[in-house]
Amino acid sequence: MALITKKIKGTEDVLPKQSYRWQFVENIMREESRAYGFREIRTPVFEHTELFARGVGQTTDVVQKEMYTFDTKGGESVTLRPEGTAGAARAVLEHALENEGLPIKASYFVSCYRYEKPQAGRLREFHQFGIEEYGTQSPVADAEIICLAQSVLDRLGLTDVHLEINSIGCPECRAKYNQALREYFTQYREQLCDTCLSRLEKNPMRLLDCKSPEDHKIAEGAPKIIDYLCEECENHFAEVQRYLESAGVSFTVNPTIVRGLDYYTKTVFEFVTDCIGAQGTVCGGGRYDGLIEELGGKHLPSLGFAMGLERILMVMDAQGVAIPQPEPCALYIATMGDAAKVKAFSLLRQVRECGLTAETDVVGRGLRAQMKYADKIGAKYSVVLGDNEFAENKAKVKNMDSGEQTELALDDSFAEKFSVLNLTGNDAFAI
Ligand code: HAM
Repeated sequence: MALITKKIKGTEDVLPKQSYRWQFVENIMREESRAYGFREIRTPVFEHTELFARGVGQTTDVVQKEMYTFDTKGGESVTLRPEGTAGAARAVLEHALENEGLPIKASYFVSCYRYEKPQAGRLREFHQFGIEEYGTQSPVADAEIICLAQSVLDRLGLTDVHLEINSIGCPECRAKYNQALREYFTQYREQLCDTCLSRLEKNPMRLLDCKSPEDHKIAEGAPKIIDYLCEECENHFAEVQRYLESAGVSFTVNPTIVRGLDYYTKTVFEFVTDCIGAQGTVCGGGRYDGLIEELGGKHLPSLGFAMGLERILMVMDAQGVAIPQPEPCALYIATMGDAAKVKAFSLLRQVRECGLTAETDVVGRGLRAQMKYADKIGAKYSVVLGDNEFAENKAKVKNMDSGEQTELALDDSFAEKFSVLNLTGNDAFAI
């Protein structure tokens, strides 16, 4: 029979045999964010469309071209989140978290949706680990979140991922810079694509990240924001660098980084690698001092970053980083006969309560097929429970690798004794 449908283009399934890789990466991210004092926030997968239009910016590619937006039956326009920052900011505002003390530090794992052209490392549904910090204008916070991103990458064992930083200033420096950009790009008016032309007046910085190769070439010669920074922004940027240097985090200042979302101010940064092709940015972030006000709150300088989980895993693959395999099944109980089956059921429960993985036959296979299955799932130990074992209330637990056997009583001590056996090997109970 033909399948009635397949997965949507630009989406991926994570199968049971692969999910340990995701869990390994996520666990390290959780541990590191905890070490830096971040706690998890969970927000809905969809929000009112205006949140992203206002937050991410009307003239960004994300809002103009890439959002999954639809009207609900009630006639509201809602959008699947294209990123995590706007939703987290909305939640912080809605629950007035600023009253609970500053800074507010939140981390998240989210699925994101962007209608982009799928290619290696670019999906329509992808996953981000992100952190956001609200209520600090100190450059120490900028350096601290960058250090956190670096710690995650280091602990994951990634090499050849470079940190590039820049400052895109505050609205004051931006006004002068935008004027300089308008003048520069106006000379090339005839050559610019329609999207760039439409953004030239309103938001000329967006011309710097145009994906068309011709416009990209023109953008290369454009004035650089770093030459237009006011004194305060310049000092802030210098301080960020001083802290990074003191923590031994190496970086390059890349004056062409402007980021594709409109909310950024001052520090912006990306971690990039050459080893996974064109989509080599594994992490991006920066400061967004005006976003909370833009969304209707008071002035609350903030900052954050997000890492693409799919891209991180691609880099780990490309660099041959070993991900520890999960512990296999510790015990498989094969059964013959009804009474044995029932006995196995209660023993398994006790073994599982000791924190071990234990399985038995749940499909009605014969003994040979059960043992074949135990082999297939890589069970460390197996035991056969039949009428004899049941009658004598003891059974031989077999090490599937060495073939060594250990006799254990099938009573309340079984689970505990099996745990010791599993931990220390057959010597513990040598017959
Ligand atoms: P972003 O640069 O748009 O920033 O995305 C962050 C990361 O998500 C990228 O560096 C990349 O690893 C991953 N990513 C983005 N788009 C895709 C895609 N189509 N397929 C696969 N991976 C992708 C943000 O989203 C900001 N909210 C980050 C931030 C948080 N800034 C401040 N706080």
